[in-house]
Amino acid sequence: MKKVGLVGWRGMVGSVLMSRMVEEGDFARIDPVFFTTSQAGQPAPDFGKSAGTLQDAYDIEALKALDVVLTCQGGDYTKEVYPRLRAAGWNGYWIDAASALRMDDEALIVLDPVNGKQIQDALAKGTKTFVGGNCTVSLMLMALGGLFEQDLVEWVSVATYQAASGGGARHMRELVTQMGMLRDEVAEELADSGSAILELERKITEKTRSGDLPVDNFGVPLAGSLIPWIDTQLDNGQSREEWKGQAETNKILQTGATIPVDGLCVRIGALRCHSQAFTIKLKKDISIAEIEKLLASHNDWVKVIPNDRQQSMDELTPAAVTGTLSVPVGRLRKLNMGPEYLSAFTVGDQLLWGAAEPLRRMLHLLP
Ligand code: HSE
Repeated sequence: MKKVGLVGWRGMVGSVLMSRMVEEGDFARIDPVFFTTSQAGQPAPDFGKSAGTLQDAYDIEALKALDVVLTCQGGDYTKEVYPRLRAAGWNGYWIDAASALRMDDEALIVLDPVNGKQIQDALAKGTKTFVGGNCTVSLMLMALGGLFEQDLVEWVSVATYQAASGGGARHMRELVTQMGMLRDEVAEELADSGSAILELERKITEKTRSGDLPVDNFGVPLAGSLIPWIDTQLDNGQSREEWKGQAETNKILQTGATIPVDGLCVRIGALRCHSQAFTIKLKKDISIAEIEKLLASHNDWVKVIPNDRQQSMDELTPAAVTGTLSVPVGRLRKLNMGPEYLSAFTVGDQLLWGAAEPLRRMLHLLP
């Protein structure tokens, strides 16, 4: 049984990972060792298996005793500990949720329903470092995998609608606090159905602009608004989140010639589901029925939603998808630009397939 060190298990992604591992009975298949950055020596959590005490996550000797490190602790931890651990001669498997190592040559981005073959090839070649992909990229590939697999995609233009959880737990709190403050501002007007709607809107707008709303995490109000920038600014005009779309997609698929993927990444007031609208240029004109068949048969979690108003409203929303592993894809139709131009819309839980799920599955793919 592999000795698996779990780091960052208490955070948001880590908590989702722990609950998925409990649901799937993963702890019965590993010998878990829990690490902490602040509470070494205290009792370890019991997820159905006693695991002694918490170990110091910066203790290289303790980490060296492991077969696998599975970390959701974040990029700063990875940058500090990973090079030291490798330099100390540790040759175990490092599985990481953070982006720090993602584009390194020695690391493979893992999303096994999409690149299971590449993962097996990498394991056979002795690759020891595996990193979860960016959430929007992973969710796009889970949804559109059937088209990429058949080499039908010439390029993808995307507009994202990304949830607060992508920023972190504090961002989610900030969004909900903003929502509550805006609602409280117009409690009287809401109680009176005859009150003037423009007066209600004016009060909301004034409150939004007042400087009273907490914005420590997002920088500006998000509730009742949106933010057309995610992550840092690059010199070429892209946001880093937009840059990841093409870079990671092509790394995951190990494409020969780069498939262009580009667009606009936008933060919206959803809690933990990222949605994405695509314009896809196909390499050839194939029917919607054929496209639906390819998409639906690609993996067990993608679900094709017929391009129907009610079904789209019922099944293709963050409200419907949050907390599930389902990745619905719909609004499939040919655009006015021509028969090779396809529209699609997908929604996915950013903490499940977008973060925790590929990591826990990688654990079981290790030889
Ligand atoms: N960068 C993503 C976001 C999070 O901010 O939504 C996960 O990859």
